[in-house]
Amino acid sequence: MEESRGRVTREGIRIYDPQEFEGMRVAGRAAAEILDAVTPHVVPGTTTAAIDAFIEDEVKRMGVTSATIGYKGYRHASCISINHVVCHGIPGPKVVKDGDIMNIDVTVIVDGWFGDSSRMYVAGTANRKAERLIDVTHDALMVGIEAVKPGNTFGDIGHAIQTFVEGNRMSVVRDFCGHGIGRVFHAPPNVLHYGRAGSGAVLEEGMIFTIEPMVNLGRPETKVLSDDWTAVTRDKSLSAQFEHSVAVTADGVEIFTLSPKGIFHPSKR
Ligand code: MF3
Ligand code: CO
Ligand code: CO
Repeated sequence: MEESRGRVTREGIRIYDPQEFEGMRVAGRAAAEILDAVTPHVVPGTTTAAIDAFIEDEVKRMGVTSATIGYKGYRHASCISINHVVCHGIPGPKVVKDGDIMNIDVTVIVDGWFGDSSRMYVAGTANRKAERLIDVTHDALMVGIEAVKPGNTFGDIGHAIQTFVEGNRMSVVRDFCGHGIGRVFHAPPNVLHYGRAGSGAVLEEGMIFTIEPMVNLGRPETKVLSDDWTAVTRDKSLSAQFEHSVAVTADGVEIFTLSPKGIFHPSKR
């Protein structure tokens, strides 16, 4: 039998040849460069539509393709989720205020490979609670990534994230998850950001997926607004999210969407 070419696990998870990771490096770097470039545009007085227009221009300038424009009827190059918006915020005429925090999520396609990443931005100065939420959410993603190595399970990733977040008296959103990625945008498995250690599929070298925990200051419940996209916290509490596209390597993990400028976390700006 051909060793790993085109293999799919019994859970439906594609195993890529590590030689194919180069495609993910290029796509992941493109997404990260766009997220770096948008940073100076997140200022009080702008609109989320203006930020998205900048992102769409960057996508064109770089000669890559937006994965979100036209995806299930979505029309924008980014999702911009402000304050109590959990994810899938639609860019529009909303004016950004001093102290607003927002997640900007960009997915691009380069040579058929999908690079998906999101991070938090602060317009002006955030208050201490918001800063703490951003820190805990960033560190929750990193704690999840640290659990990625062959032999661990997807449950180990979720368990690490949930334990860390709840230990900081915040909550993990259950209604949205990470996903397999690679030559498709959303593939098996669902990557839960909560769970039991040792549960779920076993991680194998060659798996490619996102980890993208959403963390709320209040309760975890969400609802989707009548636009059918915008997800908000039911209790109106503040929410944050960070996302990387990663692969399982022979001895651990490779992150494809690292910030070339080293500004993934907003207070390093
Ligand atoms: N990038 C998002 C994710 O992390 C998906 C956005 S789909 C859209 O999976 F249509 F809302 F843009
Ligand atoms: Co994603
Ligand atoms: Co995303």
